[in-house]
Amino acid sequence: MSYHIFAWVKESYKMEDFTLARVIHIVAVVLWIGGVGMVTTVIIPAVKKMKSKEDQIKTFEQIEGKFALQAKITTLLTGLSGFYMLYVLDGWDRYLDYKFWWIHAMTLVWILFTIVLFILEPFVLHRLFKKYANENPGKTFAVMHRVHWILLIISLITTAGAVAGSHGWFWV
Ligand code: HEM
Repeated sequence: MSYHIFAWVKESYKMEDFTLARVIHIVAVVLWIGGVGMVTTVIIPAVKKMKSKEDQIKTFEQIEGKFALQAKITTLLTGLSGFYMLYVLDGWDRYLDYKFWWIHAMTLVWILFTIVLFILEPFVLHRLFKKYANENPGKTFAVMHRVHWILLIISLITTAGAVAGSHGWFWV
């Protein structure tokens, strides 16, 4: 009898931990992907309209520089809470089932942003951006805008698939 009570208490703590991980996961995703949406649909279009390239580069670097730190923290929190949920669910074999394409999509989006934020941006992209924005600001901002749109659309499809899938709506 007492064994059952202990097992029940242990299980309910696990449930609460799982729910807490889900809460952290979603708050982090909202702040992170919401920020990507803001940069893509509002900030880059506004910067593109600025008259001088000096203003364009300075404004974009200031805004994206601040957002980069926030995105690094939220990406980290999303990954930690996501892998913790998979561990509690013991759901690693979901990676072997195409029905769980949204688990693959979440992991892929996370890997993409992690590589961009922690490796490419500080070591490569920042330097390239400065060089090309000085040489040809119109083309540089156009390319950057397109890349942001692609990342935003993939992230939104992933978010929609993850909500539907984790609430039992499988499309395939
Ligand atoms: C390493 C990366 C990630 C892992 C391991 C991961 C894992 C998980 C797991 C295990 C769940 C719960 C599934 C279930 O209840 O059956 C979940 C839910 C969810 N995740 Fe992720 N995730 C990751 C990244 C992301 C990213 C990048 C996004 C958004 C672009 C995202 C958005 C969501 C959403 C919206 C839910 C649904 C929550 C709900 O409706 O209750 N996740 N994730």
